[in-house]
Amino acid sequence: MGIPAAPSLSERYQEATNYTPASVQGHPGLDFSSQPSPFKDWFQARRVELPGGPGTETSPSPGALDAERLGRLLYHTYGVTLVREFPGMSMHYRAAPSAGGLYPADLYVAVRDVEGVPDGIFAYDARDHSLVICWEGDFWPDLAACTFAHPSVARARAVLIGTGVYERSAWRYGDRAYRRVLLDAGHVFGNAVLAAVPDGQRLVPLPYFADAGVSGLLLLDEAREGPLLLGAVLDAPDDDAGMRPTRASRSPVDRDSADPDEGHWIPRLHQAGNIQRFTPAETSLLRDEEVRGESMVLPADPLATGQAVLEAIRRRRSTRVFSAGDLPLEAVGRILAHAYPRPGSPDPEAGLAPPVLQTHIAVAGVKGLASGVYRYDPAAHAITLVRPGSPRDALHRCCLWQELARDCAFAVLHSFDLPAAVAAYGERIYRTAHLEAGLIGQRLNMAALRLGYGASGVGGFFDDFLNALLLIPPQHAIAYVTAVGLPE
Ligand SMILES: Cc1cc2nc3c(=O)[nH]c(=O)nc-3n(C[C@H](O)[C@H](O)[C@H](O)COP(=O)(O)O)c2cc1C
Repeated sequence: MGIPAAPSLSERYQEATNYTPASVQGHPGLDFSSQPSPFKDWFQARRVELPGGPGTETSPSPGALDAERLGRLLYHTYGVTLVREFPGMSMHYRAAPSAGGLYPADLYVAVRDVEGVPDGIFAYDARDHSLVICWEGDFWPDLAACTFAHPSVARARAVLIGTGVYERSAWRYGDRAYRRVLLDAGHVFGNAVLAAVPDGQRLVPLPYFADAGVSGLLLLDEAREGPLLLGAVLDAPDDDAGMRPTRASRSPVDRDSADPDEGHWIPRLHQAGNIQRFTPAETSLLRDEEVRGESMVLPADPLATGQAVLEAIRRRRSTRVFSAGDLPLEAVGRILAHAYPRPGSPDPEAGLAPPVLQTHIAVAGVKGLASGVYRYDPAAHAITLVRPGSPRDALHRCCLWQELARDCAFAVLHSFDLPAAVAAYGERIYRTAHLEAGLIGQRLNMAALRLGYGASGVGGFFDDFLNALLLIPPQHAIAYVTAVGLPE
């Protein structure tokens, strides 16, 4: 036996930010006077008004990207869909959910040759559904270099750039905020993938890009904000495999540096995942271990595409309270099929390479399905029981005693073998796995809502308790939990 490798920075971060009953009960409470704004202020900025936003008819029509389709895409990706007045503040709820409603993700878009919008790089200001002009001109040579000449960028006339402003979330969640910033950005891009389709567009998520180049283009202060995920918007979707986000790049592994001080983990871990050039990674290194037992193929009737997708995004809200009552098995199958589309389904792919996420379903109230914890195999759209018995009480305890977790009909849990993933792909896999978990989380949310049910992300959980519930090794990282059920 060789000497075990020293833990990577991602593993050390995971350990340092695990919730335990003591760490949660010891939280000092929130100081609302120091809460950062969820919006950037743009002084003396020139803007481009966008059509296709709040108050407009939702009438998508497949065609070439123009100002209206771009406006519609941005609005249904991350626009303001509800404003609520609270004493002393207005709360702007967005098309995508956000842990704690803190909205750390920001959205930029690079545009060329789009009728009604000048060429340039813009920040999307959701408050008035406008584009703030950052730079005018055609930045495709820079974008092509930053995305290592990904073929989708050469064909795109718009590229979305998602960033994370760490302090907005760290104000409440401390160093653990990075996980939620990534999950939030995944949700935002999950919307973009879904919202592009009714207008005849396709969004190709690009998780591998030269970080310094993108930060430089946007003039980001890297101590406070990092680029997280890019997405090429393509006209006329087709099945060209070269356009898929299948390529994964390796990044370095940091086993040597000293741990950062508390409060300083986020920019360090983000930088540890940065890449400058594309170094192809073997995508077959992480094979799923075999799950023993009989598997059951789930129903998979697809959901309608088109206008209904946009209407559902507009009225989407996270479920706050689930009522007792079971979901039919058919609903579980359809929700999962929508979240993990397989070849031939009407929905575009959801996964980001390399495929490291494992999926468990904790079933507590589904007609026709025994309660218990199941492994889900997206390729076969089948589940295998790994632990019989109701997980209700365990979910309640594992998810910080949140009633939402106790009362849901089923929960979808994403995890990955963190040490193996980092050894195979480098520190950036921490980012990619969480972005993907958020992206799938948004598809789960939307499918549940469209079928008349409810869903909520759950980012607050005791990591080790969940490992024990799922019977997975303690070094596996739990990325995310999505609770689905009957809304009260
Ligand atoms: C990554 C993530 C984690 C979340 N975690 C929780 C959670 O632990 N408990 C909870 O009640 N809601 C959770 N939510 C839901 C948010 O509270 C909700 O999205 C936010 O309040 C905005 O409301 P809306 O989704 O209805 O627009 C989470 C959402 C996301 C995206």
